[in-house]
Amino acid sequence: MSPAPDPGARHVVITAGPTREHVDPVRFLSNESSGRMGFAIARAAAARGDRVTLIAGPVNLETPPGVTRVDVVSARDMLAAVQEAFRDADVLIMSAAVGDWRPARKLAGKWRKKDDGSDSASLELVRNPDILATVARDKGERLVIGFALETGDGLRRARAKLKRKGADYVVLNDASALNSERATVTVIGRDGSERRIDARSKDEIAAVLVELDAPAPSQ
Ligand code: C5P
Repeated sequence: MSPAPDPGARHVVITAGPTREHVDPVRFLSNESSGRMGFAIARAAAARGDRVTLIAGPVNLETPPGVTRVDVVSARDMLAAVQEAFRDADVLIMSAAVGDWRPARKLAGKWRKKDDGSDSASLELVRNPDILATVARDKGERLVIGFALETGDGLRRARAKLKRKGADYVVLNDASALNSERATVTVIGRDGSERRIDARSKDEIAAVLVELDAPAPSQ
């Protein structure tokens, strides 16, 4: 059981899972994401007495005890839910695999392109808002933690992402973390700190992430 948060508890907002961007009522673009990391973080935060809002894309997971869950579908829904919850929050942890693009138009009926005999089709996409970067712009003293799933030169890319998005920390992991119980991550701080957590369960990683303090101010 998680303790009921006391009135002075931190409010921690966590996003989890993929987003879906509908082409028509039955088809969508999405990302590979089980949501397990974000749910593990929500469980760990509730267990330490935080007030937790978990904003989840479509996933097949049980809400951890003591956690307020808000279900969303698209990146724009998730942005609105995060902005609302972040108003009185102390911490935002963006572990969701947010879709970067959405179809320029959502069709009201099924997309019937193949009915005209075409062998190819194209879909016009438009850029989704970057939730982390948008919210981090006015975050003040509040702690904002992002994730980066990278292949290749992950550290360099994750450091650049941390700067570009204005986060306090970025948690770098590689594709082996997908749908798996264990992961190796590196927690990169705005202050230049780097902490590697080797092949640990998502619950163990979550327990480390919910104890992170604001990084030292950069020089
Ligand atoms: O750019 P990339 O998708 O690799 O960035 C990953 C981080 O940014 C994650 O924390 C993810 O939740 C967040 N993100 C976001 N809005 C987007 C895309 C990613 O908040 N449109």
